[in-house]
Amino acid sequence: MGIGSNVLEAVSSAGPSVRSCPTSAVPRLDRRVALRVNGLRKAYGRVVAVQDLSFEITEGEVFGLLGPNGAGKTTTISMIATQLRPTAGDAWVFGHSVQKETKRVRELIGLVPQDISLYPQLTARENIKFFGRMYGVPREKLDQRVEELLELVGLENRQNEPVEEFSGGMKRRLNLAVSLVHEPKLVLLDEPTVGVDPHSREKIFSIVRTLRDNGTALLYTTHYMEEAERLCDRIGIMDEGKIIAMGPLMQLLTNAGCSEVIDVRGLPPSFDWKSLHEIPGVCRVEHFDSGARLFVSRAVHALTPLHGRLARYADQVTIEIAPLSLENLFLQLTGKELRD
Ligand SMILES: Nc1ncnc2c1ncn2[C@@H]1O[C@H](COP(=O)(O)OP(=O)(O)OP(=O)(O)O)[C@@H](O)[C@H]1O
Ligand SMILES: [Mg+2]
Repeated sequence: MGIGSNVLEAVSSAGPSVRSCPTSAVPRLDRRVALRVNGLRKAYGRVVAVQDLSFEITEGEVFGLLGPNGAGKTTTISMIATQLRPTAGDAWVFGHSVQKETKRVRELIGLVPQDISLYPQLTARENIKFFGRMYGVPREKLDQRVEELLELVGLENRQNEPVEEFSGGMKRRLNLAVSLVHEPKLVLLDEPTVGVDPHSREKIFSIVRTLRDNGTALLYTTHYMEEAERLCDRIGIMDEGKIIAMGPLMQLLTNAGCSEVIDVRGLPPSFDWKSLHEIPGVCRVEHFDSGARLFVSRAVHALTPLHGRLARYADQVTIEIAPLSLENLFLQLTGKELRD
């Protein structure tokens, strides 16, 4: 059985909801499935952007879709947000089909699009109000909601300035605020921290956690490993339109079949790379120009045979051992680097 299939087993045993969150407003047992995606697919002619995607998100849960450029994250979000018609499959938001009940689904979701979607000439306050009216938030409630959101995203002091004068981070925070104006139960965030300063990034993280703890379900796409590690209760690793592994971070790492990586650097191009595969306990080897990364069950068991194979190059070679992380799990699964 290959490494990939071990990880995929973790997927099926992960089940629909696994997080225990003592601070959540919604008791764990009472949480409903906020989003169910089943066999979702989008093809553009021959290009299959998303293939047979299936997953669930419950209330009070942050589900992360982690993948490189072109993995299919935005396509997935656009289909769930009823902006793009699936080629096959369906998704249900609190039981409502994104294909058949578009209006109801739009009322239930908040979308934070990858590209900032604000009116640059309007102020922060006017933008929130505008979107509030568009979503049909009652007039008597809207003023209070505007105050709450300006405070939530930390823009009270800049509320009367036109958005075109805002920094990237402030625009991102406002982009998030407008998506929340109608108090959606499911929030879809498409790379919400791209191009923001560290302060805005931390603010966005803290808002995501607050929403989660109040029982909101969140789908969060990112290509930043660190965000997936820090924020997401469960992670779906996405590549070339498919989810290739899914589960809580610890479960993904535990079920990967190896717990450590050994980096070897300084080897000549003529080195016999195949000999590294023969070392007991090595699950996978990725080799680069002058080095290799070995995925091993226990580094301590692999070191003696490894030293034997490297003896000729002892003067030029360096070896580093590290625990398996999301970053090298991604490499192990896809053969690709996903850099922050
Ligand atoms: N309108 C379109 N016509 C043809 N191909 C498309 C279209 N939109 C997206 N694609 C293709 O679908 C694939 C997935 O694109 P998508 O934008 O969903 O990826 P992504 O994971 O969001 O990437 P990024 O991290 O760059 O935002 C890519 O190969 C892309 O070129
Ligand atoms: Mg995208």
